[in-house]
Amino acid sequence: MDFNLSEEHLMIRQAARDFAKQELLPGVIERDNKQEFPKEQVRKMGQLGFMGMMVDPTYGGGGMDTLSYAIVIEELSKVDASCSVIASVNNSLVCYGIEQYGTEQQKQKYLTKLATGEALGAFCLSEPEAGSDATSQKTTAIDKGDHYVLNGTKNWITNGGSADYHIVIAQTDKDKGHRGINAFIVEKSWDGFEIGPKEDKLGIRGSDTHTLNFNDVKVPKENRIGDDGFGFKFAMKTLSGGRIGIAAQALGIASGSYEMARDYSKIRKSFGTEICNHQAIAFKLADMHLEIEAARYLVYKSAWDKDNSTNYDTSSAMAKLKASKVAMEVSVEAVQIHGGNGFVKEYHVERMMRDAKITQIYEGTSEIQKIVISRSLLKD
Ligand code: CAA
Repeated sequence: MDFNLSEEHLMIRQAARDFAKQELLPGVIERDNKQEFPKEQVRKMGQLGFMGMMVDPTYGGGGMDTLSYAIVIEELSKVDASCSVIASVNNSLVCYGIEQYGTEQQKQKYLTKLATGEALGAFCLSEPEAGSDATSQKTTAIDKGDHYVLNGTKNWITNGGSADYHIVIAQTDKDKGHRGINAFIVEKSWDGFEIGPKEDKLGIRGSDTHTLNFNDVKVPKENRIGDDGFGFKFAMKTLSGGRIGIAAQALGIASGSYEMARDYSKIRKSFGTEICNHQAIAFKLADMHLEIEAARYLVYKSAWDKDNSTNYDTSSAMAKLKASKVAMEVSVEAVQIHGGNGFVKEYHVERMMRDAKITQIYEGTSEIQKIVISRSLLKD
């Protein structure tokens, strides 16, 4: 077993680290305050190849492995978790979904633009009554021969206001349960596609999260992904990989807030010495580091599983469950170590604490991850 990162992994980590420091750090507080979508930063992520990292170079992607992707998401998240989720959704839900299960025509038409950052993607599964219970889709797509007619509402859609192409999950035959669900590629310019209200969120405020309405949207049949009835399995398979991205995001939030707390503890003085010299603080740092390392092994192992064609449904759920818990706990401790300064925006950790919470909610809550893990343990 080799726990060392390869030269390539170290190089990509350095590139992401430099980018985050130079391009994401300036303005991150302002974007959070104003809920401003980082359009320019996303454009630059596309230029660097961060928007389609695992896509085959034939379709404009970086042809990299999942570990490289996780490392990049981790580094971006140390500084700006809004930018990292924009990239994560585009990479692992949209690009991966189309590359793995789409037709050649879909890949040529959509993937080539999504992988280079020329276009942005969104993944539209959640509904007012179908977040965790993903089979209860109320959005319908009625088969009209050469096209479907799409009607319904999707909620909490990451990249919802900015994406060009949306993968939309919809019910095509209610009587068939999960086998009557399909996934479609929908373009934002089509008649009947409407961007609804933007959410005013606790965290990841730079990413735009919207309600989307579909009013008699005509979707050509060639835009269905996979065979008829494959939509639910498509969503589940795609989300398993997506959870590695969110686990990496959580890992980055935890590491970033830990590093800030560690550095702060070396300069802030109380009772005549730097606060890191008090065991109350030093022991906190030890605990934070320990939990981050434990989470990192789970995240990297799950990325390895995906690259080595090992079933990664369970390992990605474990990675996300652990890393998101660690992100929440470590970021709270980081605020505590900063004391009063932790409670003001200038020191970043309060934002990271707010950002951490979503990692326990989207792409399956912590409770959903426990369902996935326990089912795999209990099956015969
Ligand atoms: N791969 C392939 N097939 C799978 C699968 C997987 N990972 N998981 C389930 N399936 C298949 C099952 O085998 C079953 O098929 P058969 O009947 O043919 O055997 C079918 O799907 C139904 O499976 P279940 O009975 O297990 O389904 P369920 O209704 O009990 O749900 C669940 C399981 C794990 C709870 C699932 O609903 C789930 O993951 N829910 C959470 C959804 C989610 O993550 N939502 C977040 C929205 S996306 C988002 O947040 C994006 C963003 O913007 C950031």
